[in-house]
Amino acid sequence: MDLKPEQKGVAPGPFKRTVLVDCKGVPMPKETVEHWDRIWAFQARPDDLLICTYPKAGTTWIQEIVDMIQNGGDAQKCARAPTDKRIPYLELCLPKPLSSGLEDAEAMPSPRTIKSHFSVQLLPPSFWEQNCKMIYVARNIKDNAVSYFHFHLMNKGMPEIGPWDQFLQDFIAGKVAYGSWFDHVRGWWKAKDRHPILYLFYEDMKKDPAQEIQKVAKFLGLELSESVLSKIVQHTSFESMKANPMANYSTVPSSILDHTVSPFMRKGIVGDWKEHFTVAQNEQFDDIYAQKMRDTSLTFQTQL
Ligand code: A3P
Repeated sequence: MDLKPEQKGVAPGPFKRTVLVDCKGVPMPKETVEHWDRIWAFQARPDDLLICTYPKAGTTWIQEIVDMIQNGGDAQKCARAPTDKRIPYLELCLPKPLSSGLEDAEAMPSPRTIKSHFSVQLLPPSFWEQNCKMIYVARNIKDNAVSYFHFHLMNKGMPEIGPWDQFLQDFIAGKVAYGSWFDHVRGWWKAKDRHPILYLFYEDMKKDPAQEIQKVAKFLGLELSESVLSKIVQHTSFESMKANPMANYSTVPSSILDHTVSPFMRKGIVGDWKEHFTVAQNEQFDDIYAQKMRDTSLTFQTQL
């Protein structure tokens, strides 16, 4: 597909990996924290839809699903721009001339759909005040950790990391961008009791995409015919999205996202963690998981 100039990213000089700094108790990329006052003051509108996830939980997948639902299953309309231009990533602060999610969101006419990876305490207060609808997708911790590890390797803007074992220890300790997976999924699980939040699971989306897409449509107050539903299921399958330049992040310069190290659309399965965890890592992980999750009703599937 030929891309229009505005659809192509232009890389600034050599791209540097970020470092994490504390933001209200959560480690965050320093570029985001440098713009914190503006991000925190972001003005949500009542008809905004927020898509929120812990990184690598299936954000791009739910973004494509939502955009397809909002466009009545018209794949041409969803090919109007890459994912992050259709649905701005609120706190993404890249050097010019690359994206500022904040500026893209501010310039966007209503109704807007906005993406964020914030934990509940970092979300700008106007989203709560305006009672915006929100969709949260959670993914089982083991596959989420594996996917995040590979993403650090291919995304030259992420912090430097050590080998898998070191990364896993840092991930469990919440010493990664966006902090603790436990705090994130639990915080949003609690928030749904007092706010219009549709809480979805990556594993359910894999098991029965049609059913989960219907849930999203219903949450948005939209009806899908059988034929539109089946188009959306097909268009948002892993294979279709991997081949779709408007959804697979291949428009981002390779000096930032290097798909030869690991493609953004990597495996898209449940249970890949078994290829990465040693028996000892798995046992340690299960012990910590049991402790951290003992007083929540939130449960996950680590295999289908
Ligand atoms: P893997 O690295 O396990 O393959 P995010 O969009 O939040 O960054 O998440 C990326 C993860 O979601 C990657 O996981 C990617 O392959 C997976 N993914 C993206 N689109 C998908 C789809 N249509 N179906 C299943 N998984 C998908």
